[in-house]
Amino acid sequence: MSQQPRERWGSRAGFLFAAIGSAIGLGNIWRFPAEAYKNGGGAFLLPYLIALLTAGLPLLILEYTVGRKYRQSPPAAYRELAKPAQVIGWWQVAICFVIATYYAVILAWGIRYIGFSFGEQWGDDPEKFLFGEFLQASETPGDIGGYVGGVFWPLLAVWLVVLLILAMGVRRGIEKANIIFIPSLVLFFLILVIRALTLDGAADGLDALFTPDWSALGEGSVWVAAYGQIFFSLSVGFGIMVTYASYLGRRADLTGSALVAGFANSSFEILAGIGVFATLGFMASSAGVPIDEVAAEGLGLAFVAFPTVISSMPAGWFFGLLFFTSLVIAGFTSLISIVQVVVASVQDRTGMARVPAVLGVGGLIALVSLLLFSSDNGVHFLDASDHFINQYGIAMAALVFVIIVAWWLRRLPTLQEHANLTSAVRLGKWWLVCLGIITPLVLGWMMVDSLRTEFDENYGGYTTDFLVKYGWSVAIGALAVGILISLIPWRRTGGAPPRPPGGGDGPAAPGETPDSERRSA
Ligand code: PFF
Repeated sequence: MSQQPRERWGSRAGFLFAAIGSAIGLGNIWRFPAEAYKNGGGAFLLPYLIALLTAGLPLLILEYTVGRKYRQSPPAAYRELAKPAQVIGWWQVAICFVIATYYAVILAWGIRYIGFSFGEQWGDDPEKFLFGEFLQASETPGDIGGYVGGVFWPLLAVWLVVLLILAMGVRRGIEKANIIFIPSLVLFFLILVIRALTLDGAADGLDALFTPDWSALGEGSVWVAAYGQIFFSLSVGFGIMVTYASYLGRRADLTGSALVAGFANSSFEILAGIGVFATLGFMASSAGVPIDEVAAEGLGLAFVAFPTVISSMPAGWFFGLLFFTSLVIAGFTSLISIVQVVVASVQDRTGMARVPAVLGVGGLIALVSLLLFSSDNGVHFLDASDHFINQYGIAMAALVFVIIVAWWLRRLPTLQEHANLTSAVRLGKWWLVCLGIITPLVLGWMMVDSLRTEFDENYGGYTTDFLVKYGWSVAIGALAVGILISLIPWRRTGGAPPRPPGGGDGPAAPGETPDSERRSA
């Protein structure tokens, strides 16, 4: 437990910008458009909206409520619910640790591609350039043959900036950074979308994305995709929102904030869909091929398809600058949020001050990140660990968490009461139904569905040996680490402000700003 009174957001807007900054990430830009396109186009918006209302927002509200009520990071907050529940908290911390190590490297690539856009340095074959000249990816996944300077240095720069921002604290670091980054991101992205819409073939791209295929609604996999997108995109299940909400004041409006953050995230997602598909429409029309031949997602979209398009348009460098800068900013604010989960959890557990915690814990993540992901095998590690940690880490931790809170501890009504004390939109029975029934059913179904595909064919065409070593072991390892850390006896080391029974609803602790003086956050 920390000796200091807990940090607080400077304003409600500051918290919202940070929460939105975490939610808007690579998932919005390179995942949503492709998911929508593959799963019924315009018709996908219906399951997507239902997923948002029945699971995404209820879970987001749950995370905000737990964070604000107990005012601690996930392990310590869940421990207040029930001692063994801290395992889920440490499990989420381990997941965040893993994701942070590879998420950062994508930002490093993005930074290099801002530079490559000038003069279209990827030449005629962006794919060959990406894996060859730039990443120098080894042919055999699994063996590190050397390090790539062109990735190492920008990655080091990413880590130095992240650690600096975190060391400056919640209000002066994270909040300020998001207040600057998020409006800039929206501005850059709007210019990009306007430019994309003026390209030849843009309308065909939008047609391809939005033309509804209503028959898709009858397919289970479309619904799984919609819920999967919502969970990832809203950053629920990582413990991020519990951590961010732990810096809220006691009068903060929880449900209203969740609605604002949720709808802002989805609006950006739809904007990204428009920008990406207008651009792909142009790509298809200039190559004279149908859209489905150019539709891409993830790394292939950002680092192969977009460079190809940039090379074929006038003043492509400008488009490249806008696109890669947006990608880097969107990812950066998500990376900050995920590292903060690990730093805050260690701080709350050990009583360490912020700067040593950032240097020690953040420094360790940075080191692992540099060692693994600036190597010539980085791209293979990234691909496998990303897939497994998402499918069997985040979603599984979220599933166990809702089951424990809703069914084992039966704590939803108390949490509902807590949220309703200060929230403009009151939670009714629907919240209990969504979290107690719909969310666990959907998450459970998603798990079964993913496992079925996993055993049908090897992910990404990798060998079973590689997937066991760098996929399964990462996902299962995160849980094992979570359990092991929970076993360390918990002696409260610091002078944490004593909390009244039932969480943080009582009077302000000594040294804390009384709520009456701080209504904003
Ligand atoms: N909501 C984020 C996204 O859409 O990219 C999910 C996320 C991923 C958050 C990785 C944080 C992170 F480090």
